[in-house]
Amino acid sequence: MAATPKYRKSTLRDVDSIHTMIKNEAHESGAVVAVRRSTIRKWIRDGLSFVATIDGKIIGHEGANMWKKSKCLEMRSAIVLKQYRGLHIGNGINTHLIGHLRKNYRGWRAIAFVNSAAKSRGMLQREGFVKIDNAELPQEFFLENGAALTAQEHGYETFTEIL
Ligand SMILES: CC(C)(COP(=O)(O)OP(=O)(O)OC[C@H]1O[C@@H](n2cnc3c(N)ncnc32)[C@H](O)[C@@H]1OP(=O)(O)O)[C@@H](O)C(=O)NCCC(=O)NCCS
Repeated sequence: MAATPKYRKSTLRDVDSIHTMIKNEAHESGAVVAVRRSTIRKWIRDGLSFVATIDGKIIGHEGANMWKKSKCLEMRSAIVLKQYRGLHIGNGINTHLIGHLRKNYRGWRAIAFVNSAAKSRGMLQREGFVKIDNAELPQEFFLENGAALTAQEHGYETFTEIL
């Protein structure tokens, strides 16, 4: 039986581990999109990246992009290493990230784009996210985040809640 996972904010020392985990999952399942190290560093500097660890080893991650003008927070790269899935660790990371968002970004909108390969619908819905039509998102968000248009074009489902 594996030790109990711990949850914490990511630090700049975690960038390589997180980057590798995202790259591998993007390659294997396509449930997430590969990101640059500079993007992960931004999530960390904004205090919007959380990891799960077991015996000090990073086994899961979730981050968020901050879109200040439209007051939106876009959940990104939720991953738990394969051998640790189904143990509610993804849920645990998500709860920590959302707890932080609720405390610090009251009234902002949290958004998660989910593609057909992604397994995060359940944990998002347990936190109160609901599926909406992309067109219901504020126009300002699309102006600020061009990549959201790409997600829309590729048929991603949109889950959202007001924090
Ligand atoms: C999404 C993810 C982070 C969830 O992590 P987790 O620790 O397995 O989360 P949970 O234990 O809460 O289980 C999540 C779901 O997977 C199911 N599950 C159970 N055993 C599993 C296993 N061995 N492998 C995969 N999924 C399993 C659970 O029943 C649960 O379903 P529900 O949420 O619909 O109730 C993880 O599945 C993952 O890394 N998937 C690949 C990347 C991905 O899809 N990311 C989301 C991008 S939007």
